[in-house]
Amino acid sequence: MKIAVLPGDGIGPEVTHEAVRVIAALDLGIDLQWAPVGGAAYKAHGHPLPADTLAVAQASDAILFGAVGDPDCDALDRHLRPEQAILGLRKALTLFANLRPAQVFAGLEARSALRPEIAALIDMVIVRELNGDVYFGEKGFRTNAAGEREGYDVMSYSTSEVERIAHVAFRTAQGRKRRVCSVDKANVLETSQLWRDVVIEVARAYPDVAIEHMYVDNAAMQLVKNPGHFDVVLTGNLFGDILSDQASMCVGSIGLLASASLGAHQTAHGTFGLYEPIHGSAPDIAGQGLANPMATILSAAMLLRHSLGLAPAADRIEAAVAAALADGVLSRDLGGNARTTEIGDAVLTRL
Ligand code: NAD
Ligand code: IPM
Ligand code: MN
Repeated sequence: MKIAVLPGDGIGPEVTHEAVRVIAALDLGIDLQWAPVGGAAYKAHGHPLPADTLAVAQASDAILFGAVGDPDCDALDRHLRPEQAILGLRKALTLFANLRPAQVFAGLEARSALRPEIAALIDMVIVRELNGDVYFGEKGFRTNAAGEREGYDVMSYSTSEVERIAHVAFRTAQGRKRRVCSVDKANVLETSQLWRDVVIEVARAYPDVAIEHMYVDNAAMQLVKNPGHFDVVLTGNLFGDILSDQASMCVGSIGLLASASLGAHQTAHGTFGLYEPIHGSAPDIAGQGLANPMATILSAAMLLRHSLGLAPAADRIEAAVAAALADGVLSRDLGGNARTTEIGDAVLTRL
Protein backbone atom coordinates (compact mmCIF):
# COMPACT_ATOMS: atom_id res chain seq x y z
CA MET A 1 0.00 0.00 0.00
CA LYS A 2 1.36 3.37 -1.05
CA ILE A 3 0.43 6.81 0.25
CA ALA A 4 1.65 9.95 -1.50
CA VAL A 5 2.33 12.56 1.19
CA LEU A 6 2.09 16.16 -0.09
CA PRO A 7 2.64 18.53 2.87
CA GLY A 8 2.53 21.84 0.96
CA ASP A 9 2.85 25.27 2.55
CA GLY A 10 2.44 27.14 5.84
CA ILE A 11 1.00 24.87 8.52
CA GLY A 12 0.58 22.10 5.91
CA PRO A 13 3.90 20.40 6.81
CA GLU A 14 3.27 20.84 10.56
CA VAL A 15 -0.14 19.15 10.56
CA THR A 16 0.91 16.51 8.02
CA HIS A 17 3.84 15.56 10.23
CA GLU A 18 1.47 14.68 13.09
CA ALA A 19 -0.84 12.66 10.84
CA VAL A 20 2.13 10.70 9.47
CA ARG A 21 3.32 9.92 13.00
CA VAL A 22 -0.10 8.48 13.74
CA ILE A 23 -0.14 6.34 10.59
CA ALA A 24 3.41 5.14 11.28
CA ALA A 25 2.55 4.20 14.87
CA LEU A 26 -0.08 1.75 13.63
CA ASP A 27 2.63 -0.20 11.80
CA LEU A 28 0.41 -1.09 8.86
CA GLY A 29 3.21 -1.70 6.38
CA ILE A 30 2.35 1.36 4.32
CA ASP A 31 4.95 2.89 2.01
CA LEU A 32 5.03 6.72 2.20
CA GLN A 33 6.28 8.78 -0.73
CA TRP A 34 6.81 12.48 -0.14
CA ALA A 35 6.57 15.09 -2.85
CA PRO A 36 6.55 18.91 -2.97
CA VAL A 37 3.38 20.81 -3.83
CA GLY A 38 2.07 24.39 -3.79
CA GLY A 39 4.26 27.42 -3.14
CA ALA A 40 7.05 25.16 -1.86
CA ALA A 41 7.07 23.32 -5.20
CA TYR A 42 6.92 26.56 -7.15
CA LYS A 43 9.93 27.91 -5.26
CA ALA A 44 11.94 24.71 -5.72
CA HIS A 45 10.82 23.59 -9.18
CA GLY A 46 9.02 26.53 -10.81
CA HIS A 47 5.57 24.93 -10.74
CA PRO A 48 2.98 24.37 -7.95
CA LEU A 49 2.19 20.87 -9.23
CA PRO A 50 5.39 19.48 -10.78
CA ALA A 51 5.02 16.53 -13.17
CA ASP A 52 7.00 14.36 -10.76
CA THR A 53 4.58 15.15 -7.94
CA LEU A 54 1.58 14.32 -10.10
CA ALA A 55 3.29 11.04 -11.06
CA VAL A 56 3.85 10.13 -7.38
CA ALA A 57 0.19 10.91 -6.69
CA GLN A 58 -0.98 8.81 -9.62
CA ALA A 59 1.17 5.86 -8.59
CA SER A 60 -0.29 5.82 -5.07
CA ASP A 61 -3.38 4.22 -3.53
CA ALA A 62 -4.22 7.49 -1.78
CA ILE A 63 -2.89 11.00 -1.22
CA LEU A 64 -2.47 12.69 2.14
CA PHE A 65 -2.47 16.43 1.48
CA GLY A 66 -1.60 19.20 3.95
CA ALA A 67 -2.48 22.63 2.58
CA VAL A 68 -1.24 25.03 -0.08
CA GLY A 69 -1.13 28.81 -0.20
CA ASP A 70 1.65 31.32 0.27
CA PRO A 71 1.23 35.09 0.41
CA ASP A 72 4.54 35.42 -1.50
CA CYS A 73 2.82 33.81 -4.47
CA ASP A 74 -0.43 35.82 -4.52
CA ALA A 75 0.78 38.09 -7.34
CA LEU A 76 1.88 35.29 -9.66
CA ASP A 77 -0.06 34.46 -12.82
CA ARG A 78 -2.98 32.36 -11.69
CA HIS A 79 -1.71 29.14 -13.29
CA LEU A 80 1.45 29.34 -11.14
CA ARG A 81 -0.27 30.05 -7.81
CA PRO A 82 -0.09 27.39 -5.07
CA GLU A 83 -3.88 26.84 -5.10
CA GLN A 84 -3.61 25.50 -8.64
CA ALA A 85 -1.89 22.43 -7.18
CA ILE A 86 -4.96 21.28 -5.28
CA LEU A 87 -7.35 22.32 -8.04
CA GLY A 88 -5.11 20.54 -10.57
CA LEU A 89 -4.97 17.31 -8.54
CA ARG A 90 -8.74 17.26 -8.05
CA LYS A 91 -9.31 17.77 -11.77
CA ALA A 92 -6.50 15.60 -13.16
CA LEU A 93 -7.48 12.66 -10.94
CA THR A 94 -11.26 13.22 -11.42
CA LEU A 95 -11.82 13.50 -7.68
CA PHE A 96 -15.32 14.92 -8.04
CA ALA A 97 -16.86 14.01 -4.68
CA ASN A 98 -15.67 15.89 -1.63
CA LEU A 99 -17.01 14.49 1.65
CA ARG A 100 -16.68 16.89 4.57
CA PRO A 101 -18.11 15.38 7.76
CA ALA A 102 -18.99 17.76 10.58
CA GLN A 103 -20.01 16.42 13.95
CA VAL A 104 -19.62 17.81 17.40
CA PHE A 105 -17.11 16.09 19.70
CA ALA A 106 -18.30 15.07 23.16
CA GLY A 107 -17.07 17.60 25.69
CA LEU A 108 -16.42 20.31 23.09
CA GLU A 109 -20.00 21.63 22.83
CA ALA A 110 -19.05 24.83 24.64
CA ARG A 111 -16.24 25.48 22.11
CA SER A 112 -18.76 25.91 19.30
CA ALA A 113 -19.54 29.42 18.11
CA LEU A 114 -23.17 28.38 18.70
CA ARG A 115 -24.91 27.76 21.99
CA PRO A 116 -23.81 24.35 23.34
CA GLU A 117 -27.29 22.81 23.27
CA ILE A 118 -27.56 23.70 19.57
CA ALA A 119 -24.03 22.53 18.77
CA ALA A 120 -24.63 19.21 20.53
CA LEU A 121 -26.97 18.14 17.69
CA ILE A 122 -24.48 18.57 14.82
CA ASP A 123 -23.91 15.41 12.79
CA MET A 124 -23.77 16.01 9.06
CA VAL A 125 -21.75 15.30 5.96
CA ILE A 126 -21.37 17.99 3.34
CA VAL A 127 -21.11 16.34 -0.08
CA ARG A 128 -19.47 19.00 -2.21
CA GLU A 129 -19.03 18.68 -5.98
CA LEU A 130 -15.36 19.28 -6.76
CA ASN A 131 -14.72 19.20 -10.52
CA GLY A 132 -17.08 21.82 -11.92
CA ASP A 133 -18.99 25.03 -11.20
CA VAL A 134 -17.54 28.53 -11.43
CA TYR A 135 -14.17 27.09 -10.33
CA PHE A 136 -13.45 25.51 -13.70
CA GLY A 137 -15.39 27.64 -16.19
CA GLU A 138 -13.90 30.11 -18.63
CA LYS A 139 -12.44 33.05 -16.77
CA GLY A 140 -10.48 36.13 -17.54
CA PHE A 141 -10.33 39.89 -17.74
CA ARG A 142 -11.80 42.00 -20.54
CA THR A 143 -12.70 45.56 -21.37
CA ASN A 144 -16.42 46.24 -21.34
CA ALA A 145 -18.41 48.54 -23.63
CA ALA A 146 -17.75 51.49 -21.31
CA GLY A 147 -14.00 50.93 -21.63
CA GLU A 148 -13.74 49.62 -18.09
CA ARG A 149 -11.71 46.56 -17.08
CA GLU A 150 -13.87 43.73 -15.82
CA GLY A 151 -13.26 40.20 -14.58
CA TYR A 152 -15.48 37.23 -15.34
CA ASP A 153 -15.86 33.58 -14.34
CA VAL A 154 -18.40 31.35 -16.04
CA MET A 155 -20.53 29.13 -13.78
CA SER A 156 -21.92 25.93 -15.29
CA TYR A 157 -22.87 22.34 -14.48
CA SER A 158 -23.70 19.58 -16.94
CA THR A 159 -26.37 16.98 -16.27
CA SER A 160 -23.86 14.14 -15.87
CA GLU A 161 -21.74 16.15 -13.42
CA VAL A 162 -24.78 16.70 -11.19
CA GLU A 163 -25.98 13.12 -11.56
CA ARG A 164 -22.75 11.55 -10.36
CA ILE A 165 -22.43 13.75 -7.27
CA ALA A 166 -26.14 13.34 -6.46
CA HIS A 167 -25.71 9.55 -6.47
CA VAL A 168 -22.83 9.92 -3.99
CA ALA A 169 -25.02 12.01 -1.70
CA PHE A 170 -27.96 9.60 -1.79
CA ARG A 171 -25.74 6.59 -1.19
CA THR A 172 -24.06 8.44 1.69
CA ALA A 173 -27.49 9.18 3.17
CA GLN A 174 -28.44 5.49 2.92
CA GLY A 175 -25.65 4.75 5.38
CA ARG A 176 -26.84 7.51 7.74
CA LYS A 177 -30.17 9.12 8.64
CA ARG A 178 -31.52 8.93 5.07
CA ARG A 179 -32.01 12.65 4.52
CA VAL A 180 -30.49 14.77 1.76
CA CYS A 181 -30.73 18.54 1.66
CA SER A 182 -29.69 19.82 -1.77
CA VAL A 183 -28.47 23.42 -1.58
CA ASP A 184 -28.64 25.70 -4.61
CA LYS A 185 -29.62 29.17 -5.80
CA ALA A 186 -32.28 28.09 -8.31
CA ASN A 187 -34.29 31.26 -7.69
CA VAL A 188 -31.58 33.22 -9.52
CA LEU A 189 -29.12 30.94 -11.35
CA GLU A 190 -29.78 28.66 -14.34
CA THR A 191 -26.83 26.52 -13.22
CA SER A 192 -28.80 25.89 -10.03
CA GLN A 193 -32.08 25.28 -11.86
CA LEU A 194 -30.40 22.49 -13.80
CA TRP A 195 -28.85 21.24 -10.56
CA ARG A 196 -32.28 21.08 -8.90
CA ASP A 197 -33.97 19.42 -11.90
CA VAL A 198 -31.30 16.71 -12.02
CA VAL A 199 -31.32 16.11 -8.26
CA ILE A 200 -35.11 15.67 -8.34
CA GLU A 201 -34.69 13.10 -11.11
CA VAL A 202 -31.90 11.17 -9.33
CA ALA A 203 -33.91 11.20 -6.08
CA ARG A 204 -36.56 9.00 -7.74
CA ALA A 205 -34.09 6.11 -7.61
CA TYR A 206 -33.81 6.47 -3.80
CA PRO A 207 -37.36 6.28 -2.41
CA ASP A 208 -35.89 5.39 0.99
CA VAL A 209 -34.13 8.78 1.25
CA ALA A 210 -36.00 12.02 2.02
CA ILE A 211 -34.95 14.88 -0.24
CA GLU A 212 -35.43 18.61 0.32
CA HIS A 213 -34.14 21.60 -1.60
CA MET A 214 -32.90 24.77 0.06
CA TYR A 215 -31.55 28.07 -1.24
CA VAL A 216 -27.98 28.68 -0.19
CA ASP A 217 -28.70 31.89 1.71
CA ASN A 218 -31.33 30.12 3.80
CA ALA A 219 -28.99 27.13 4.25
CA ALA A 220 -26.30 29.44 5.67
CA MET A 221 -28.89 30.73 8.13
CA GLN A 222 -30.31 27.30 9.05
CA LEU A 223 -26.78 26.01 9.60
CA VAL A 224 -26.40 28.29 12.61
CA LYS A 225 -30.05 28.29 13.66
CA ASN A 226 -30.60 24.55 13.70
CA PRO A 227 -27.60 22.56 12.40
CA GLY A 228 -29.09 19.35 13.80
CA HIS A 229 -31.59 19.55 10.96
CA PHE A 230 -28.96 18.46 8.43
CA ASP A 231 -27.87 14.91 7.65
CA VAL A 232 -26.34 14.96 4.14
CA VAL A 233 -25.91 18.37 2.51
CA LEU A 234 -25.51 18.05 -1.27
CA THR A 235 -24.13 21.12 -2.98
CA GLY A 236 -21.89 22.56 -5.67
CA ASN A 237 -18.25 23.47 -5.54
CA LEU A 238 -18.51 27.13 -4.49
CA PHE A 239 -21.41 26.85 -2.04
CA GLY A 240 -19.83 23.73 -0.50
CA ASP A 241 -16.55 25.54 0.01
CA ILE A 242 -18.24 28.33 1.92
CA LEU A 243 -20.75 26.27 3.91
CA SER A 244 -18.09 23.83 5.09
CA ASP A 245 -15.92 26.57 6.62
CA GLN A 246 -19.07 27.86 8.31
CA ALA A 247 -19.95 24.37 9.56
CA SER A 248 -16.47 24.09 11.07
CA MET A 249 -17.12 26.98 13.44
CA CYS A 250 -20.46 25.43 14.40
CA VAL A 251 -18.41 22.39 15.47
CA GLY A 252 -15.78 24.56 17.17
CA SER A 253 -12.81 25.10 14.86
CA ILE A 254 -11.69 24.78 11.28
CA GLY A 255 -8.84 22.74 12.74
CA LEU A 256 -11.27 19.86 13.35
CA LEU A 257 -12.82 19.18 9.94
CA ALA A 258 -11.38 16.48 7.69
CA SER A 259 -12.23 15.67 4.10
CA ALA A 260 -12.05 12.95 1.48
CA SER A 261 -12.03 13.70 -2.23
CA LEU A 262 -13.09 10.63 -4.18
CA GLY A 263 -13.70 9.63 -7.77
CA ALA A 264 -14.73 6.46 -9.53
CA HIS A 265 -11.29 4.84 -9.60
CA GLN A 266 -10.92 1.71 -7.47
CA THR A 267 -7.61 0.51 -6.06
CA ALA A 268 -6.78 -2.95 -4.73
CA HIS A 269 -8.16 -2.02 -1.31
CA GLY A 270 -10.85 0.61 -1.88
CA THR A 271 -11.53 3.89 -3.67
CA PHE A 272 -8.62 6.04 -4.77
CA GLY A 273 -8.78 9.40 -3.02
CA LEU A 274 -7.12 12.54 -1.73
CA TYR A 275 -7.45 13.39 1.96
CA GLU A 276 -6.94 16.83 3.46
CA PRO A 277 -8.13 19.09 6.24
CA ILE A 278 -10.70 21.63 4.99
CA HIS A 279 -8.52 24.51 6.18
CA GLY A 280 -5.70 26.24 4.34
CA SER A 281 -2.07 27.01 5.02
CA ALA A 282 -2.87 29.54 7.78
CA PRO A 283 0.12 31.83 7.11
CA ASP A 284 -0.82 33.88 10.20
CA ILE A 285 0.18 31.02 12.55
CA ALA A 286 2.63 29.02 10.40
CA GLY A 287 5.90 27.95 11.97
CA GLN A 288 4.78 28.67 15.54
CA GLY A 289 3.58 25.25 16.67
CA LEU A 290 0.06 26.59 17.11
CA ALA A 291 -1.73 24.67 14.36
CA ASN A 292 -4.39 22.15 15.30
CA PRO A 293 -3.44 18.86 13.56
CA MET A 294 -6.72 17.04 14.38
CA ALA A 295 -8.33 17.75 10.99
CA THR A 296 -5.35 16.20 9.21
CA ILE A 297 -5.16 13.24 11.61
CA LEU A 298 -8.88 12.64 11.00
CA SER A 299 -8.23 12.94 7.25
CA ALA A 300 -5.65 10.16 7.60
CA ALA A 301 -8.33 8.05 9.29
CA MET A 302 -10.68 8.65 6.35
CA LEU A 303 -7.83 7.63 4.03
CA LEU A 304 -7.35 4.32 5.81
CA ARG A 305 -11.09 3.63 5.72
CA HIS A 306 -11.97 4.65 2.15
CA SER A 307 -8.80 3.93 0.17
CA LEU A 308 -7.00 1.17 2.07
CA GLY A 309 -9.87 -0.87 3.47
CA LEU A 310 -8.53 -0.45 7.02
CA ALA A 311 -11.70 0.54 8.84
CA PRO A 312 -10.62 -0.83 12.25
CA ALA A 313 -7.43 1.30 12.15
CA ALA A 314 -9.52 4.33 11.14
CA ASP A 315 -11.90 3.69 14.05
CA ARG A 316 -8.96 3.54 16.43
CA ILE A 317 -7.58 6.89 15.24
CA GLU A 318 -10.97 8.56 15.46
CA ALA A 319 -11.48 7.19 18.98
CA ALA A 320 -8.02 8.43 20.03
CA VAL A 321 -8.77 11.91 18.66
CA ALA A 322 -12.14 12.02 20.41
CA ALA A 323 -10.53 10.86 23.67
CA ALA A 324 -7.78 13.48 23.50
CA LEU A 325 -10.33 16.22 22.86
CA ALA A 326 -12.58 14.95 25.65
CA ASP A 327 -9.57 15.05 27.98
CA GLY A 328 -9.12 18.74 27.15
CA VAL A 329 -6.07 18.47 24.89
CA LEU A 330 -6.91 21.65 22.97
CA SER A 331 -4.91 23.95 20.74
CA ARG A 332 -5.30 27.70 20.78
CA ASP A 333 -8.10 27.74 18.18
CA LEU A 334 -10.19 25.78 20.70
CA GLY A 335 -9.25 27.96 23.65
CA GLY A 336 -6.44 25.74 24.94
CA ASN A 337 -2.67 25.98 24.88
CA ALA A 338 -1.55 22.54 23.62
CA ARG A 339 1.03 22.80 20.86
CA THR A 340 0.84 20.95 17.56
CA THR A 341 3.28 18.18 18.51
CA GLU A 342 1.74 17.81 21.98
CA ILE A 343 -1.58 17.11 20.32
CA GLY A 344 0.07 14.49 18.13
CA ASP A 345 1.63 12.98 21.26
CA ALA A 346 -1.76 12.92 23.02
CA VAL A 347 -3.35 11.06 20.11
CA LEU A 348 -0.45 8.57 20.00
CA THR A 349 -0.73 7.93 23.74
CA ARG A 350 -4.43 7.15 23.39
CA LEU A 351 -3.82 4.86 20.41
P1 NAD B 1 -7.05 29.25 6.36
O1 NAD B 1 -7.98 28.10 6.49
O2 NAD B 1 -5.64 28.94 6.01
O3 NAD B 1 -7.05 30.09 7.72
C1 NAD B 1 -8.21 30.76 8.19
C2 NAD B 1 -8.06 31.04 9.69
O4 NAD B 1 -8.17 29.82 10.41
C3 NAD B 1 -6.71 31.63 10.08
O5 NAD B 1 -6.89 32.54 11.12
C4 NAD B 1 -5.92 30.43 10.55
O6 NAD B 1 -4.92 30.73 11.49
C5 NAD B 1 -7.01 29.55 11.14
N1 NAD B 1 -6.68 28.12 11.00
C6 NAD B 1 -6.76 27.40 9.84
N2 NAD B 1 -6.36 26.14 10.08
C7 NAD B 1 -6.04 26.06 11.38
C8 NAD B 1 -5.56 24.99 12.20
N3 NAD B 1 -5.32 23.77 11.73
N4 NAD B 1 -5.31 25.27 13.50
C9 NAD B 1 -5.55 26.48 14.00
N5 NAD B 1 -6.00 27.53 13.27
C10 NAD B 1 -6.24 27.31 11.97
O7 NAD B 1 -7.71 30.23 5.29
P2 NAD B 1 -7.13 31.61 4.64
O8 NAD B 1 -6.38 32.37 5.66
O9 NAD B 1 -8.28 32.23 3.96
O10 NAD B 1 -6.14 31.09 3.51
C11 NAD B 1 -4.72 30.99 3.69
C12 NAD B 1 -4.12 30.32 2.47
O11 NAD B 1 -4.56 28.96 2.40
C13 NAD B 1 -4.56 30.95 1.15
O12 NAD B 1 -3.47 30.96 0.28
C14 NAD B 1 -5.65 30.03 0.64
O13 NAD B 1 -5.79 30.07 -0.75
C15 NAD B 1 -5.14 28.70 1.12
N6 NAD B 1 -6.13 27.64 1.28
C16 NAD B 1 -5.74 26.38 0.88
C17 NAD B 1 -6.58 25.30 1.08
C18 NAD B 1 -6.12 23.95 0.64
O14 NAD B 1 -4.93 23.72 0.50
N7 NAD B 1 -7.01 22.99 0.41
C19 NAD B 1 -7.80 25.49 1.73
C20 NAD B 1 -8.16 26.78 2.13
C21 NAD B 1 -7.32 27.85 1.90
C1 IPM C 1 -10.66 24.27 0.04
C2 IPM C 1 -9.95 25.51 -0.44
C3 IPM C 1 -9.75 25.45 -1.95
C4 IPM C 1 -11.13 25.50 -2.59
C5 IPM C 1 -8.87 26.55 -2.55
C6 IPM C 1 -7.54 26.65 -1.85
C7 IPM C 1 -8.66 26.33 -4.01
O1 IPM C 1 -10.62 26.65 -0.02
O2 IPM C 1 -10.16 23.16 -0.19
O3 IPM C 1 -11.70 24.38 0.70
O4 IPM C 1 -11.70 26.58 -2.79
O5 IPM C 1 -11.64 24.43 -2.91
MN1 MN D 1 -12.19 26.25 1.43
